[in-house]
Amino acid sequence: MTGLLKYGSGQRVGRRVQGFLWATSLVALSLPVLMAQPAGVTPNTAGTSTAAVTDSPAYKRGRLLFIQCRACHDLKPSPVEKVGPNLAGLFGRAAAAAPDFGYSPALRSAKITWDRQTLDTWLEKPGSMVPGNIMAFAGIANPADRAALISYIEVESASR
Ligand code: HEC
Repeated sequence: MTGLLKYGSGQRVGRRVQGFLWATSLVALSLPVLMAQPAGVTPNTAGTSTAAVTDSPAYKRGRLLFIQCRACHDLKPSPVEKVGPNLAGLFGRAAAAAPDFGYSPALRSAKITWDRQTLDTWLEKPGSMVPGNIMAFAGIANPADRAALISYIEVESASR
C-alpha cells in the first residue's frame, strides 16, 4: 500500500484535483498489474519494477496507441463480444485461439504463436503477414510505435 501511495504521489501534477484524479486512475490502472505479475517477471524493460514499466514513456505511448484497437479488442477477459477477438492472455497463445470467436479461415490456418516478434510483423501490415485475414486495420508503419504498443499489450493482456 505504501508503495502504491508513493507511486501515486510521485505522479502528482500541478493542480490538486486534477493531480488526485490522475493519480487515482493510475493506481486503479496499475493495481491489477501489480497484483497479477508473478515475482521475477518483468514484461519488457529488464531490471525495472512493474510500477516503473507502467510509468515508462513506452507504456504510456502504447496506451495511447491502443485507443485505435479498443473499439474492436479488449485486453482483459470480458463477456462483451467486440468486432475483434479478446486479447487476454495473448502472449504465448496460438493465433485464432480465443474461444467462441469467428476467425477467418486465413488466420485459423496460419501457424503463428503470438510473441513480440510475431506481433510486430502482424501490426506492421496484417494483410501481408496473413493474406485474407478479416482485421480491418492497415497497420502501423513506425517501428517505435509498434514496440510501444506491444509493450503495453504485453503488460495489460497478462493481468487477470
Ligand atoms: C475494425 C476492428 C479491428 C481493429 C481496429 C483492430 N483489430 Fe485486431 N482483429 C480484428 C479482427 C476481426 C481479428 C480477427 C482476424 C481474422 O480472423 O482474420 C483481429 C485479430 C487480431 C489479433 C490476432 C488475435 C488472435 O486471437 O489470434 C491481434 C493480436 C490483433 N487483432 C491486435 C490488434 C491491435 C493491437 C490493434 C490496434 C493497433 C487491432 N488489432 C485493431 C479486428 C480489429
